Amino acid sequence: MRYIVTSALPYANASLHLGHMLEAIQTDIWVRSLNLDSHQAYYFCASDTHGTPVMLKAKELSIKPEDLVNKMKIEHQKTFEDFNINLTNFHTTHSEESEELTLNIFNKLSKNKKIYTEDIIQLFDEKENIFLSDRFVKGTCPACGAADQYGDACEVCGKTYDALDLIDPISTLSSTTPVQKKSSHYFFSLSEFKDFLKKRVSELSDQKPVIHKINEWLEDDLKDWDVSRDEPYFGFKIPGEESKFIYVWLDAPVGYFASIKNWCDQNNHKYEDFLDKDSKLVHFIGKDIMYFHLLFWPSTLHAAQVKQPDEVFVHGFMTIEGNKMSKSRGNFITANDALTFADADFYRYYIASKLNNDISDMDFSVQDFIQKINSDLVGKFINIPSRTSKFIQKYGNSKVLPNSMELIDKYKVEFEKTISLVESRNYSQALKLIMSMADEVNTYISIKEPWTLAKDNNIEECLEVCSNALAIFCSLNVLLTPFMPNISNKISAFLKVDNLKYRDIYMQCINEINEYDHIIKRLDAKDFEGMVTK
Ligand code: 2FM
Ligand code: ZN
Repeated sequence: MRYIVTSALPYANASLHLGHMLEAIQTDIWVRSLNLDSHQAYYFCASDTHGTPVMLKAKELSIKPEDLVNKMKIEHQKTFEDFNINLTNFHTTHSEESEELTLNIFNKLSKNKKIYTEDIIQLFDEKENIFLSDRFVKGTCPACGAADQYGDACEVCGKTYDALDLIDPISTLSSTTPVQKKSSHYFFSLSEFKDFLKKRVSELSDQKPVIHKINEWLEDDLKDWDVSRDEPYFGFKIPGEESKFIYVWLDAPVGYFASIKNWCDQNNHKYEDFLDKDSKLVHFIGKDIMYFHLLFWPSTLHAAQVKQPDEVFVHGFMTIEGNKMSKSRGNFITANDALTFADADFYRYYIASKLNNDISDMDFSVQDFIQKINSDLVGKFINIPSRTSKFIQKYGNSKVLPNSMELIDKYKVEFEKTISLVESRNYSQALKLIMSMADEVNTYISIKEPWTLAKDNNIEECLEVCSNALAIFCSLNVLLTPFMPNISNKISAFLKVDNLKYRDIYMQCINEINEYDHIIKRLDAKDFEGMVTK
């Protein structure tokens, strides 16, 4: 089975924050684990580059949108690398592959009569000469009268409405009053796909809250989807039009395919064979973009007769110290800033220790983070070699005794269970299980007291105890590899093992060790001052 896995394409107008890393880490752990389990799994992502926000950001910086998205692509790719995210390819939606695949889908939808045109009236900013999307207009809520509400929904009473119904609308771009203007738009006939989607949703997800939400949407009328935008716009032109563009949300998910195709072309794979019906296409996304991935995306692909996703896996948001992340609150942590406080693997471990397969939010708390790393990784896991390796070096010439299977034999069932928890994306439970094994290994060491055995000149037994502990430590390290790949690699070098897979951990893999160096250091609260200012 070939797994082709993606995480949502980050939008190319700003740096990545810790919330983006939650998703990349969740995806990367899953892909790494599949590969350790001897599957073939690939991880594709790309920059999401089109649309009004990129265009406006470039204008603000007085640069071309192309230059902005090129710069952001390099920055995002580097951030992913710095978080040890093992991407097979990171491409961009502003690319030849993306244009070809998007136009192919658009043309098929038109040919199959799933796209039609209709005149609509929208708010237009005459000063900036631009139609205003809902996010660029504010006014008074027509339902409850609350001031300063966006053009799509009221944050006070929760009602959704048409921007044309806002009372006293103001353009957020020019602070002028917009006028109403007519324009012809292209619509995808989503309403025709209700029955298809009803059947599809339970195939795409086994997450109950996700199925519930989608079914709720499917109980209401589905509105046809406006997939065009007027100029000025940064994106792909609609075939046969001079001043109309494809809406970014139609081409964004095609970026998944563009990234796969770009990689295939460079690596001697035929794209059509690689992404065939037998490969399993899995998207990891946040709960804010379920509508796009579970309604629009499968329907457009179905209508264009293109391979559809096999699974869409949804996660919740990250809060910081219990609050929504926001710049004005002072709790906005960019991914790059986070790395100035601690190594990537520590964030990976901590975030994973709070992830499971529901879609509730996870909280990042600095004190809890420090406490978790110190108690699990320092106090339990790395404590195993720090208490035993010196005896192997001193009395065993750094050789681990063969047949040190006592602890491995005891925990084989737990190993299997851990792997299956990771594959079902229950990372918090998987890590709990690994740490409970590490804890028990420490109890074993405490009971056996290798230091007393050495003092009493019972060297053979001292070496046996330490060898058993280090042999299972090696297996636990393999289980932890998807979560903290960089640290695990350093540990593998210390244990003189390389490229171990899950199937190897049921046997003793180590024969000899290198000198023990403090691979994981305790985190200190004073190094985190200023990370979250409020
Ligand atoms: O929500 C976002 O940030 C979008 N850029 C995600 C796009 S995912 C995919 F459809 F491209
Ligand atoms: Zn309201």
